[in-house]
Amino acid sequence: MKMQNIAVIGYGVVGSGTVELFEKNREDICRKIGRDCDIKYICDLRDFPGDRYESKLVKDFNVILNDDEIEVVAEVVGGATFAYEYTKKLLERGKSVVTSNKELVATHGAELFEIAKAHDCNYLFEASVGGGIPIIRPLNKCLAGNSIEEISGILNGTTNFILTKMIREQMDFDSALKMAQELGYAEADPTADVEGHDACRKICILGSLAFGRHIYPQYVHCSGISRITLTDVEYAENAGYSIKLIGTVKPEGRDRISAIVCPRLVEKSNMLSSVDDVYNAITVRGDGVGDVLFYGRGAGKLPTASAVVGDIIDCLKHRDRRIMIDWEDCRDKDYVVPYKQINNSMYVRITADNAEALKPVISELFGKVMYLERNDRPEEELAFITPMMKEADIDAALEKLSESAEIGSKIRLL
Ligand code: HSE
Repeated sequence: MKMQNIAVIGYGVVGSGTVELFEKNREDICRKIGRDCDIKYICDLRDFPGDRYESKLVKDFNVILNDDEIEVVAEVVGGATFAYEYTKKLLERGKSVVTSNKELVATHGAELFEIAKAHDCNYLFEASVGGGIPIIRPLNKCLAGNSIEEISGILNGTTNFILTKMIREQMDFDSALKMAQELGYAEADPTADVEGHDACRKICILGSLAFGRHIYPQYVHCSGISRITLTDVEYAENAGYSIKLIGTVKPEGRDRISAIVCPRLVEKSNMLSSVDDVYNAITVRGDGVGDVLFYGRGAGKLPTASAVVGDIIDCLKHRDRRIMIDWEDCRDKDYVVPYKQINNSMYVRITADNAEALKPVISELFGKVMYLERNDRPEEELAFITPMMKEADIDAALEKLSESAEIGSKIRLL
């Protein structure tokens, strides 16, 4: 039986992990697919003198594109420029592509699935969400019998790692970020992690898969962890909450969805609150199954490679069959309900000279709120949690309150 050949484009953290894991387990992989297979090329513009796989390295992408022996390509370049062009060309040649590239799937997924379909090959993306956590296939297959009611999760390893280090070890933000970069968790530009864009792409992918229509990241409100203070963490901990960066997507009526990425106060009784370090966790609620929790390492070389290699094996096993993990395009700007229309309960921290005296005003604006405490709370500081209200109404009330107090923080509850 002919050898099945694979190529890997991008020899960075995930690319080198993919090659390492594949080569380590190659014998087993060959047994699993029932044929011999190997990585024929690794494509990267950089030199890797002395690298164990130097003989497989090529700089010209066309070598892979034009080699008819290459059946499956792992695109682990990242970004939506070169990777987009490469992926389109490969799929148009009928080569299956597997990827960890959440930016590309979240921005061009629907188009790339169409191309794969037209050319009878596969475009798989298990590694794009949750690193090594199996979530794409379970959502697409095992939970397919459910109507999905909500997906909520910690979807970014870097920010969860930073929050854990800051809160549990009092490490400062910059040192924690540097450590996450050294461990290979962060994006090339870590702003994408810190400001929530990476988690936003991932919740868009999960929502697109669960509800069948492409959710474009530009319609999803997203805020990151850069404005969280240790003061807020203290109030939250005292009241029995952790602060986590959470992505959420759910249906709103029959034809619309809501999606948002933001820091949230998560009750300690919720399992997401105890997910620390680089770990990610995703809760999927289905109308039949109830809540299902997926947990594991959300970033890093070998955990992400685990998902990439799994997709490679799936393609090799099913070389004559399309694997239908996809969704339709959706250009309807109203598909995503504006986040200001969604109900939330909000943690608010304010400062004012006469803070205590503002309590009647706060009740008038928000109704019954719950006040929070922390050790040595200054007299001019108040922290409270509002009842569930439409976000636009919370903002209007805060606008009024800002006439007599400075609004320090507002963080949604999960
Ligand atoms: N930068 C990403 C994270 C990598 O920290 O989660 C995995 O997608």
